[in-house]
Amino acid sequence: MEKFLWGSATASYQCEGAWLQDGKLESMWDHYLHEKQLENGDVASDFYHHYEEDLKMASEGGQNSFRLSLSWPRILDEKGNVNQRGIDFYRRVLTCCHTYGLKPNVTLYHWDLPQYLQAQGGWLNEATCDAYAHYAKVCFEAFGDLVDLWVTFNEPRWFIFNGYLIGNYPPEHHDVDETIKGAFHVMYASSLAIRLFREGGYPGQIGIVHSFTPINGVDDTIATRIAMRYADNYCNNWVLDTAAWGEMPIDMLGKLASEGHDLSFMTPAKLALMKANTVDFLGLNYYARALVKPYTSGETTLIVNNAGKAGKGTSKTILKNWFEQVNDPHTKKTEWDTEIYPQGLYEGILMVWHKYHLPIYITENGVGMYEDVSVPCVEDDYRIDFMQEHIEAMLRAKDEGADVRGYYAWSTFDLYSWKNGCEKRYGLVAIDFKNGLVRKPKASYAWYRQMIENNRKKECK
Ligand code: NOJ
Repeated sequence: MEKFLWGSATASYQCEGAWLQDGKLESMWDHYLHEKQLENGDVASDFYHHYEEDLKMASEGGQNSFRLSLSWPRILDEKGNVNQRGIDFYRRVLTCCHTYGLKPNVTLYHWDLPQYLQAQGGWLNEATCDAYAHYAKVCFEAFGDLVDLWVTFNEPRWFIFNGYLIGNYPPEHHDVDETIKGAFHVMYASSLAIRLFREGGYPGQIGIVHSFTPINGVDDTIATRIAMRYADNYCNNWVLDTAAWGEMPIDMLGKLASEGHDLSFMTPAKLALMKANTVDFLGLNYYARALVKPYTSGETTLIVNNAGKAGKGTSKTILKNWFEQVNDPHTKKTEWDTEIYPQGLYEGILMVWHKYHLPIYITENGVGMYEDVSVPCVEDDYRIDFMQEHIEAMLRAKDEGADVRGYYAWSTFDLYSWKNGCEKRYGLVAIDFKNGLVRKPKASYAWYRQMIENNRKKECK
């Protein structure tokens, strides 16, 4: 039996820096953040120049896997030709992973779409799906000998909803029809990549990573159960059902059609292709659940707290005629209003396992905090508590039969957290962004190493 994977995760735009080096083109995030003059990832953790030190540290921290993403605009030019320097960089990184005993878990797309494609409509334009398929094939060919865990997309819901519905990510739209089309195109593109992967006979497995939000209801009435189903369709099913079964939830499509949305771009040929090309495994990023009640009144309101002051930019989710999210006053929240709820991971894994019967990886889990990194060692007890409780929840679900194969802490080291900037820190290793990008393990780094060692001993028994 394969060893359980204990690792940590990163994403190209959030850590690499070197935003214009060695032939890399502009991504939609480079363009958007520069244009709006917002905090950006031009340098970020400078993984581009520090990868060897970072991977060595992950390995010395007892980890046996590393999750990363590839930057599409580093790999291809506008005509779809290969940028050899981009390929060489990732071959060096992947080889280094193997040198340090880290199995690479590689995501093709973690949000950094080439800007020239965004300018032509991004995920609203079907041509982006074909360009993505070409990019996926280039990556399978270039790195297939070094990778056997592939992920087509990281968190389709998060980048599509934030970009096209909530409007806090580029291109900052608020349009339901665009959201539906973008979401569909991403899931279709994922199937195109899976088809190429199967046809090419590349080694390993291919899956998708989902921003998993298990749904709880405020009570057990029929009205609440219906609201829970709407919430589950909105948060989870359109990604997981489509990836695992090749079918979008039919009641969700019915609801959208009854609300007057045009679904005619979901052609029979595309639906058949999606049905025939499903994933080998599911990656779940778990941060929190959603507690919901039936919709009462008011317009659709979707607010994400990017302010980092609990109660200030207060999050809110009301989906008109679908459901409302409620705050549980008894649970702990972070400064960004994210609920801390390990039980949701336990229940969620079992639910996903019983529903889909596919191998599961917890591809991200962690807590973002403000931290003073000028000290020799950040004593992040809150992160240790958080990870301990979540890992225990995961192992309980595994003991009860769920086929969970890996856990990745988010993140390997401090990095750039999109609209939350660099001061929302998630790393096991601190990076002083203002002081030479010096790396210093936090207390959680050593704790994680010990936890991994203890669990390996149990595995061997
Ligand atoms: C999920 C995303 O994959 C990652 O990019 C993000 O930074 C973390 N969650 C933390 O919010």
